[in-house]
Amino acid sequence: MKRNIMITGGAGFIGSHVVRLFVNKYPDYHIVNVDKLTYAGNLANLRDVESAPNYTFIKADICDFDGICRIMQEHDIDGIIHLAAESHVDRSIKDPFTFAKTNVLGTLSLLQAARLAWEDGGWKKGDVGCRFYHISTDEVYGALELSEPEGVEPPFTTKASSGKHHLAYGRDFFREDTKYNPHSPYSASKASSDHFVRAFHDTYGMPVIVTNCSNNYGPYQFPEKLIPLFINNIRHGKPLPVYGKGENVRDWLYVEDHARAIDLIFHKGKTAETYNIGGFNEWKNIDIVKVLIRTVDRLIGNPEGTGDSLITYVEDRKGHDMRYAIDSSRLQRELGWEPSLQFEEGIEKTVRWYLDHQDWLDNVTSGDYQEYYEKMYHRG
Ligand code: NAD
Ligand code: TYD
Repeated sequence: MKRNIMITGGAGFIGSHVVRLFVNKYPDYHIVNVDKLTYAGNLANLRDVESAPNYTFIKADICDFDGICRIMQEHDIDGIIHLAAESHVDRSIKDPFTFAKTNVLGTLSLLQAARLAWEDGGWKKGDVGCRFYHISTDEVYGALELSEPEGVEPPFTTKASSGKHHLAYGRDFFREDTKYNPHSPYSASKASSDHFVRAFHDTYGMPVIVTNCSNNYGPYQFPEKLIPLFINNIRHGKPLPVYGKGENVRDWLYVEDHARAIDLIFHKGKTAETYNIGGFNEWKNIDIVKVLIRTVDRLIGNPEGTGDSLITYVEDRKGHDMRYAIDSSRLQRELGWEPSLQFEEGIEKTVRWYLDHQDWLDNVTSGDYQEYYEKMYHRG
């Protein structure tokens, strides 16, 4: 079936993996990547698909309502996968307004433009996959406690509602019906955008879907986020700024597994529903840092333990959420999705990718970003 799908934020980390998957897997679809190319958007992330006949890139701001309406009309858009956002918590603490603008007003502008296109009959109503798919985060649910069954040291083995066993740092998990309780300006802005998306279904009947995913890792992630930043720093013998005691827990998913989930849900998910996406893969930050040090040292031929002295405990992030843990049983049960990679395998692939792509790292961190980085982190 012919489709014209707009993917917003397609030049960013997750968006570039989604664009690549859709362009390669669906030659009948025309993929229109709409991205403002902020510091986080980079066309180098899409070199391998940029000349595909079913792919078009348009530099545009989702906040520009008229511009977005024009693009939807010109390309006869009949489905949207919305990833464009400001995505880094530390930046949101310094500059919450930009997050409200892009994540809340930008999403609203896109929704309104989509509603006009949909009401005009441009979307084939009733067709599976003709919908506004909003990509959100598990951070909207707030923070979970670290807890343990009596006398057992975390992580302990627990059983998810899917029936599978996995390691966890607490008894509670974020489920689709967990109450929203965002703490950072980033998560507050994403929560607000999620509410607007659902309101457009409840008010106008627009076919929407929202998914909330845990932390992603993998190639093409901007090196201000924990994993690529630390890989780059270990390689160059620079300090690794671990916030607080490094005890915070995050639930990590390989980015291509997220992209596969997005493909599945876009085509088979139930309209107006929410799906949580995550791999039941909880790690304390400090343990991830140790895995990264071991892996980078081994791959660049340093003696074991070389990078340990780089660990530098720094002041904690303000309002730092203690633990995120997603229960993705619903997605596994109803749509048969499973993460394809074990974490050790994913981390090995990821570290190798960054070590092999120093030019990409240098390129995305050159220019204005350097100045910002020094100011933001006061690091040499
Ligand atoms: P990213 O920061 O790497 O990329 C964001 C992209 O959006 C960039 O290409 C940027 O240029 C573009 N963009 C920003 N403002 C824009 C605007 N006003 N108009 C058009 N384009 C704009 O982000 P990411 O990590 O790839 O995250 C993508 C989405 O997934 C976000 O909505 C984020 O909230 C969500 N998410 C991310 C994670 C994660 O671990 N990274 C986890 C769950 C959900
Ligand atoms: P991050 O990659 O920013 O993702 P998020 O805040 O969305 O979870 O951070 C992951 C974890 O790593 C988080 O608990 C904060 C911590 N962290 C550090 O300890 N040092 C750092 O320099 C960064 C960027 C993050």
